[in-house]
Formats: sequence, C-alpha cells, structure tokens
Amino acid sequence: MSAPYPHTPVLLNESVDLLVTSPAGVYVDATCGMGGHAEKICERINPEGRLLCFDMDPAAIAIARTRLARFQNVTFMEKNYDKLKVGLFAESLNRIDGILYDLGVSSLEIDRPERGFSFMQDGPLDMRMGRGETTAADIVNGYSREALTRIFREYGEERFSGRIAAAIVESRPFFRTRELADCIRGMIRGPYVNKTLARIFQALRIEVNGELESLKKSLATAMGLLNPGGRMVVISYHSLEDRIVKNTFLEAVSDCICPPQNPICTCGHKAQAKRITRKPLCPGETELRENPRSRSAKCRAIEKI
Ligand SMILES: C[S@@+](CC[C@H](N)C(=O)[O-])C[C@H]1O[C@@H](n2cnc3c(N)ncnc32)[C@H](O)[C@@H]1O
Repeated sequence: MSAPYPHTPVLLNESVDLLVTSPAGVYVDATCGMGGHAEKICERINPEGRLLCFDMDPAAIAIARTRLARFQNVTFMEKNYDKLKVGLFAESLNRIDGILYDLGVSSLEIDRPERGFSFMQDGPLDMRMGRGETTAADIVNGYSREALTRIFREYGEERFSGRIAAAIVESRPFFRTRELADCIRGMIRGPYVNKTLARIFQALRIEVNGELESLKKSLATAMGLLNPGGRMVVISYHSLEDRIVKNTFLEAVSDCICPPQNPICTCGHKAQAKRITRKPLCPGETELRENPRSRSAKCRAIEKI
C-alpha cells in the first residue's frame, strides 16, 4: 500500500516531544508542508491550544488543510516564515510557546518534475517554493558569470564553481532542468558528477527562494516572540542551514558575545535561552532505513529563559 502523503516527516516524535511543553500553548509550525509534524502537534495540544501553520507553497498548504480539517484550533498562513510577526498580528497574537522549523524542500516539491527542483527528472527550470517571481531560469540565464560563481561557491560549496559558471554562460539559455544537468555533466565527468549536480541545484534553489536570509531573519524574530519556557526546535538538512541555526543558538545561550581575543567582556549581552539539546539529534537506524531522505537531518532545540 502506498503512503497516504508523499512526504514522510523526519524525527517526528523527537521534534514534537521537544516542542510541546504546554498543551494549552500557542505553537507555530513554520514549515508546515503536508502537515506531518503539524498533525502530531495538534494531537498533543488541547482545545485551548493553537497551532499556526506557515508555508509559502500553496500546494502544500492545500494538502495540509485537508489533512488537518478535523482540528478546530489550526490556522493556515500561505506566507514566508520571515513574515512571522505579520502572520501572528493578523491573528491578534504577539507571543508564542513554541516554534518548529523543518527546513528545506518537501518530497511534494522535489519529486514533481514540473516544479523543477530535481536534476534527476526533466522539468522547467523553476524551483520556486512559493509565488515569487524569480525562477531558476531567470538566474541561470540572467546572472553574470561572477554572480553565478559566487552563488555556486557560497550556496553549493562547489569547488568548480568558476568553471561551471563559465560553461553555463557560454552555452545558455537553458529552460529545462535536463539541459542544465547535461551541460554540467559535459564538463564534470567521473563518479562524483551527481554530487556536483546536487550542489549546483541546491545553490540555485537557495538563491531562488532567498532561503538563508529568510532563515536568519525568522529565527531572530521567533526568539523575540517566545514566552519564557517556550521552545524553538529546528531540523536542518545541510551545513549552511545548520551553521546559521548553530550560531543563532550559540548567541542566544551566551552571556557574552565579545570576540574571543577580548581580555574583558564589553558587549553587555545576556543569554536569552538555554540549550535543550547538547548535541543535535539525528535519525536512528530504523528511521534511516525507512526514510533514507532523513539521512542528513540534525535537530537542535533551545528554550527561552
Ligand atoms: C521539509 S518540508 C516540511 C515538511 C513538513 N514538516 C511535513 O511533515 O509535511 C519544508 C517545507 O518548508 C517550506 N518552506 C521552506 N522555506 C520556507 C519559508 N522561508 N517560508 C515558508 N515555508 C518555507 C517548503 O515549501 C516545504 O513545504
């Protein structure tokens, strides 16, 4: 029998156990997707509790709405999670008791060729999670060689960024994922070509959706909105996301953020939170076997003090 939803939630029980500390609290699922985590959160809160579900993908929100129709206390927001405050304000809320981020793309997005996220299938070079205007084709066909090199280096950590950018500029325009993948395959040969393709497609996806900027902004906003005792739980899937989460959390739990070479503290910073996870939680053997896509997941949590 096939699974009822195309996306299997990652670290489901672990993340929701970390998140929900008060059944009557106000919770946010910042990346609701098809509502896997959201459903579990709804099962843990009582009728006085509330859940606000954000996602910028209208297709994901439509599925989550149907999936969670039996719960009365859920509100859906088709919004970027960097608009957290605006979303809460629309619901006359200004404090929350917990927020969950399950970052990246869902299987609904990556497995549909027409969304253009995957180099394994042919589709338009799109990669938009939401209704933004800029597509991957706009970037590939419109950015300078230098700008493409920068995003492949910074967002893909790709060592042949300059050569790949030059080859793209030489052969563009590209409109299909297969055309772009074939161009890269033509210059990077050998067993690692799929890793290179994954890095280049990741870089384009990050640029199209402004992912890292939104994440930094949203984590900072969320920290300010949490009630004392409220928790922030983040599941990340690659080193760039995880670095942002790690650094944001480190700053939040530190009483001093002066540069290490300073002999005395001059920053006046005070810790706003305490760590709940010493080391990030990762999927266990059973989850990895059942859902190989969970393999790079890392879950970190802090609690506001
Ligand atoms: C890994 S999936 C979440 C899956 C979900 N937890 C579930 O169980 O079905 C990540 C989701 O986050 C959404 N997303 C990514 N960045 C976003 C952002 N900046 N604002 C809102 N949604 C975002 C994507 O559209 C995608 O649906």
